[in-house]
Amino acid sequence: MSDFVSDTWHYYVMGLVILSLLFCVWILASNMTRRVKGPVTLHSHIWDEDLQEYNNPLPRWWMWLFWLALIFGAVYFVLYPGLGRFPGKFGWTAVNQYSAEVAAEDAVVRPIYEKYMKQDLLAVAAEPEAQAMGQRLFLTYCAQCHGSDARGAKGFPNLADNDWLHGGSPEAVKTTITHGRIAAMPPFGPVLGAEGAKDVANYVRSLSGLAHDSLRAQRGREAFAANCVVCHGPEGKGNVELGAPNLTDKIWLWGSSEATIIETATHGRMNQMPAFGERLGEEKVYLLAAYVLGLSHAQAK
Ligand code: HEC
Ligand code: HEC
Repeated sequence: MSDFVSDTWHYYVMGLVILSLLFCVWILASNMTRRVKGPVTLHSHIWDEDLQEYNNPLPRWWMWLFWLALIFGAVYFVLYPGLGRFPGKFGWTAVNQYSAEVAAEDAVVRPIYEKYMKQDLLAVAAEPEAQAMGQRLFLTYCAQCHGSDARGAKGFPNLADNDWLHGGSPEAVKTTITHGRIAAMPPFGPVLGAEGAKDVANYVRSLSGLAHDSLRAQRGREAFAANCVVCHGPEGKGNVELGAPNLTDKIWLWGSSEATIIETATHGRMNQMPAFGERLGEEKVYLLAAYVLGLSHAQAK
């Protein structure tokens, strides 16, 4: 519990605290002059030519405040930590207090989590109360990458649509959040060359019906068949096992412009969804998965 590297510091701090208390006692005691009997005399010193001081004792109520404060301090040091490493009779620590508060909160929340854990993920996804809890978790842990509306941004997938890089089944979504995902698209610059990359980009654009140069697309089709179908599939429909996106829909993670596709094909893309299983625990992941599924199912209706 203590960070002191040697006992010396423990005694040093203890000594300083006790000496300070004793010093205050001494100051107070030495100023407890009794009320002077008879006429009040003047001190002998004079300031600013004519300023003099009566020899009155300090007000008693005021002295008592100091004594009370000192007693309070002494009692405090017996009950609570403060004297070097001495833990205090109550054994209070900030960690204890924190754990107790967390435990109290858990006792309230756990039954709610347990109730949901027993239900089917899709049933939880349909419950407004669970969605509200999921949303709060999402705003805390996920919004910085996926956006507060879960609609994502360049490089960060939209979770509110029904298009999935890694699969949209309840199991797949839960696995994504628990273990994270790594998506690696290798660079093809050296293989394709500048012209080849442009050709293949035109072919990729043709897959989703975007404007393209048909001659280039024709050439690009061969390069695609030779280099890209392993992951994106013969028809370019992607592969959830590898996180390779479907290139035939109109949903883009990085962008659909010719320049962006050339960039993707030339330099590749490395993308990672961090794992949250250990950090958040099974229950929170469950609610988050339900929240994400709820969003995309609402979209599908
Ligand atoms: C540091 C940024 C970051 C954070 C934080 C983050 N994600 Fe992700 N997430 C990503 C990236 C990047 C991907 C895409 C990975 C890829 O390209 O395959 C992703 C993918 C996903 C997917 C898969 C989407 C699909 O189409 O298959 C889900 C589901 C998901 N995230 C949910 C969450 C949830 C829930 C949280 C909060 C607990 C979260 N993410 C927090 C960056 C993040
Ligand atoms: C080893 C598997 C693999 C190969 C081979 C591969 N890709 Fe990819 N590709 C991926 C993955 C994985 C992603 C997703 C990267 C991410 O999530 O950021 C991707 C993403 C893309 C994207 C971005 C899609 C979007 O929505 O923005 C394009 C375009 C693309 N690939 C085109 C190609 C082309 C063209 C080739 C062949 C020259 C190719 N890929 C070869 C795995 C591959």
